[in-house]
Amino acid sequence: MEAHKISELTKIPLHVAIIMDGNGRWAAQRGLPRLAGHRAGTENLRTVISAAADFGVKYITFYAFSTENWKRPEDEVKGLMRLLSEFIDREMIKLHKQGARLLHIGHLEGLGPTLEKKVRDAIELTKDNKTITVILAFNYGGRDEIITAIKQMLSEGVPADEVNEDLISKHMFTAGIPDPDLVIRTSGEQRTSNFLVWQSVYSEWAFPKAYWPDFNKEALLETLIEYSQRDRRFGGLTDPKKQE
Ligand code: FPP
Repeated sequence: MEAHKISELTKIPLHVAIIMDGNGRWAAQRGLPRLAGHRAGTENLRTVISAAADFGVKYITFYAFSTENWKRPEDEVKGLMRLLSEFIDREMIKLHKQGARLLHIGHLEGLGPTLEKKVRDAIELTKDNKTITVILAFNYGGRDEIITAIKQMLSEGVPADEVNEDLISKHMFTAGIPDPDLVIRTSGEQRTSNFLVWQSVYSEWAFPKAYWPDFNKEALLETLIEYSQRDRRFGGLTDPKKQE
């Protein structure tokens, strides 16, 4: 990696969230079935997690399966579940050794008892790790998350005048996780697709062209450099972090 490029990293996002788009097109380009693209995309998680940790990112969220993805053909849905299971079997010990902590957002109970337990065990195994927090959004939808939070607050009998941004944030799947500073959607598509709807209101967005399986350390560096050049104002006139 070229040193002069690294020197352009003048600010590092605390939390990067990624919509891993383009697996299907990556596979089609090679005459392969869509699942081969998802498999290559799963392989790429390790590369990007290590690269993000090297650059000093502390939280990284991956949108792996949305509440809308159940509409895909049964084979593809089953394949994605199998890839999650294999990812945990194959990668978690390595990630644990690297100091990665695993978290999940979404409805784990929708994945069936075996996969749910596997994910819960991996979360438990890595809970004290500090190098980087890896958040898997699997069976996750932003609107669904808001509905879930509202139901939870109603069931707790929260009085209407106590509802504020802080309380809603505490009822999200992401409670305790800082909002993403940067959301990346690979493959050149420019949509938010029900991802982190509540949390991304002041995020910077980037839309690199690479399909997800090709989004490597170099591509992440380029995107982080683009982020370094952004001026974040959070509705004000200056970037509060620049004033420190
Ligand atoms: C979008 O590409 C990608 C997905 C819907 C799934 C992403 C999942 C993975 C990378 C692997 C599973 C994750 C884990 C944690 C094991 P697309 O299929 O919509 O691509 P296309 O737009 O080119 O068709």
